[in-house]
Amino acid sequence: MDAIGIERGCESPRLLEVPKPDPTDGEALIRTLRVGVDGTDHEVIAGTHGGFPEDDDHLVLGHEAVGVVEDPNDTGFERGDVVAPTVRRPPEGGTNQYFERGEADMAPPTETVERGIDGAHGFMSEYFTSPEAFLVSVPEALAELGFLLEPISISEKALELAYASRSSFAWEPETAFVLGNGPLGLLTVAMLADDMRVYCLGRRDRPDPSIDIVESLGATYVDSRETPVEAVPDVHEPMDLIYEATGYAKHAFDSIDALAPNGVAALLGVPEPWTFDVDGGRLHKEFVMHNKALVGSVNSGPSHFRAAVDRLGALPDPFLEAFVTGIVPHRGFERAFEQRKTDIKTAVEFDSI
Ligand code: NAP
Ligand code: BGC
Ligand code: ZN
Repeated sequence: MDAIGIERGCESPRLLEVPKPDPTDGEALIRTLRVGVDGTDHEVIAGTHGGFPEDDDHLVLGHEAVGVVEDPNDTGFERGDVVAPTVRRPPEGGTNQYFERGEADMAPPTETVERGIDGAHGFMSEYFTSPEAFLVSVPEALAELGFLLEPISISEKALELAYASRSSFAWEPETAFVLGNGPLGLLTVAMLADDMRVYCLGRRDRPDPSIDIVESLGATYVDSRETPVEAVPDVHEPMDLIYEATGYAKHAFDSIDALAPNGVAALLGVPEPWTFDVDGGRLHKEFVMHNKALVGSVNSGPSHFRAAVDRLGALPDPFLEAFVTGIVPHRGFERAFEQRKTDIKTAVEFDSI
């Protein structure tokens, strides 16, 4: 069958011919519909994040997938059910406490592999197999956009952790600052825009489709070249909630100054090592004296995917139409990995329902 992946020593994805997988006991065979592309895929292709499966010369890409059950193979699914797979699987050598508890998203990187990212083949192929526990049911009406469930689930988890960290007192966030106008940032703006005054950080000139989306959602675009993160409380207002999706390491520290008292910032970006100066003493005191919190968040589990199903169904159609800028047939997959300024979210299509 056809798959899209990277080979060791190559710098760009290729069409590969790989064996069609056979489901083992407890696994279903899934016919792939669509697979989304995000910033992490570009980091994997560049070799700055993730890695190849041990003993393999290639990695099949893709971790944001939706498909149709082709062979339920004694799982609880039926042929024709639409499903989305979670990303993490137990590492070579077997399961561990995180998987046994159903909390794979809380495993440290040494205790998990990630399909399409780190140590395990992804979903960018005509078929894939998965154990039942790692498949989430998707209503048929959401099949075409089901590749958005994984990134939405990432934000569901991060917001859950952020809210949990503020759960011991009356916290009613009114302002939110989303750092980053890539696909993860824009999805999160859309998720928050009805409930708070939302600001979104970018570094682009107008006209730009991501700025149009921010403003169409009623949020305020903040250009980091004019207004750095730490200046936002003076220029706009202090932020109860910050969601970092830039991967720009200084933003973790700048966020502490942008937070309102008792606020929380969730960090999602996956930056490279970068040494710079910070006034650690001042920031430490700022945390303590204003009850501020920073929380890191990675990956997501089935409960976050289920929350994402409800969320996706509630996102406004005009937003989704502007957000999904390219559905590309798998034999023209290269287009989905081009990073044009007019691209926001692209997906590779293998089949239709
Ligand atoms: P992306 O497409 O790379 O988006 C990042 C956005 O941040 C880009 O639009 C970029 O602007 C903007 N940006 C970067 N530095 C900036 C700065 N100094 N000021 C203003 N804007 C800046 O990636 P994504 O798919 O949206 O994901 C965002 C980050 O989250 C990535 O680091 C990704 O690896 C990570 N991620 C983490 C998880 C998790 O589970 N923790 C899940 C998914 C993604 P330009 O486009 O103009 O350069
Ligand atoms: C994926 C997550 C993954 C993370 C770190 C993200 O792009 O959506 O599932 O855990 O990258 O590799
Ligand atoms: Zn991702």
